[in-house]
Amino acid sequence: MENGIDTVVILTEAISQIASCSSLLELDKTRLNLVGKQGIVTQLLKSIGSLSIEEKKSFGQKVNVLKLQIEAIIEEKKTALETKALSTQLEGEWIDVSLPVRASLPVLGAGSLHPLSQVQAELEQIFRGLGFSVVDGPEAEKEHYNFDALNIPASHPARDMQDTFWTKDKNVLRTHTSPMQVRALERMTPPLRIVAPGRCFRAERCDASHEHTFYQMEGMMVDREISISHLLYFMRTLLREVLGFEPKIRLRPGYFPFVEPGFELDIWFKNRWLELLPCGLVHPRVFELTGHDPKEWQGFAFGLGLSRLVMSRFEIDDVRHLQGCDLRFLRQFS
Ligand code: DAH
Repeated sequence: MENGIDTVVILTEAISQIASCSSLLELDKTRLNLVGKQGIVTQLLKSIGSLSIEEKKSFGQKVNVLKLQIEAIIEEKKTALETKALSTQLEGEWIDVSLPVRASLPVLGAGSLHPLSQVQAELEQIFRGLGFSVVDGPEAEKEHYNFDALNIPASHPARDMQDTFWTKDKNVLRTHTSPMQVRALERMTPPLRIVAPGRCFRAERCDASHEHTFYQMEGMMVDREISISHLLYFMRTLLREVLGFEPKIRLRPGYFPFVEPGFELDIWFKNRWLELLPCGLVHPRVFELTGHDPKEWQGFAFGLGLSRLVMSRFEIDDVRHLQGCDLRFLRQFS
């Protein structure tokens, strides 16, 4: 051996030093000791100056190979240590998602349908059984659908009955579900039967019986020779199904520009008359405005007050509960 130094011995020693490292920090110290600026291998290279030219060449090569070997082994060890560190970290972060919830944590449990949704679903089912389609439409509505095509022109005093939220781009938050009558007449070909449940909005001062947001369900049947007796038959069937008994009803004349004649249908409920179902026969003007011949087609329409029905059915005394998101209230209906 040149210089009396055996690189194999150094390599063997290095391998055992590297192997015994148990952390990246330790490994880095070992690396500095071996191939760092002050390390053994670097010292060897520095000693080269005292050798003959021949010896310099072969010794230099050997030391360089030794250096490369040691660096490769260090690199390998580094990867192994990194992998180990990662899996230790993962093990530390492991959680058992199947463990039962600790008793000290609040249990949220499953939610349940809002009373409005429950009644709406029931009504939809009843009407589907009677051959009606359930349709949906926009809550921000064009003035045309909410008013004009329903025979409520801008000058009409009936607009004052509905205090309206207008959007900046001159649309309205629909004040009733009746625009769906127009949308259905425009899109579908009679004979047709639709119900359209949904949210409506009016600029109301809120109290126990007034809300700016409430629910209605519009209904309309268009066919040949439709009369008030059809209207009454369907209204009776609806009320019987929904209340579970056949209530006493009364029809009062009611004014709505899109029906003629128009009625207020009241039911005798819990010892008083409850105004529940405005309705009437579709006004010939509405047929004309939507391109149908009123001599050929007739129809009835109604606008069920869904919020009001839910309130009487569940004896809710304040309409604001329906939008209040109070779990103490909602849990009573789960
Ligand atoms: N849209 C009316 C309102 O909210 C209610 C109404 C009346 C709807 C008569 C109808 C109807 O379909 O025929 O004030």
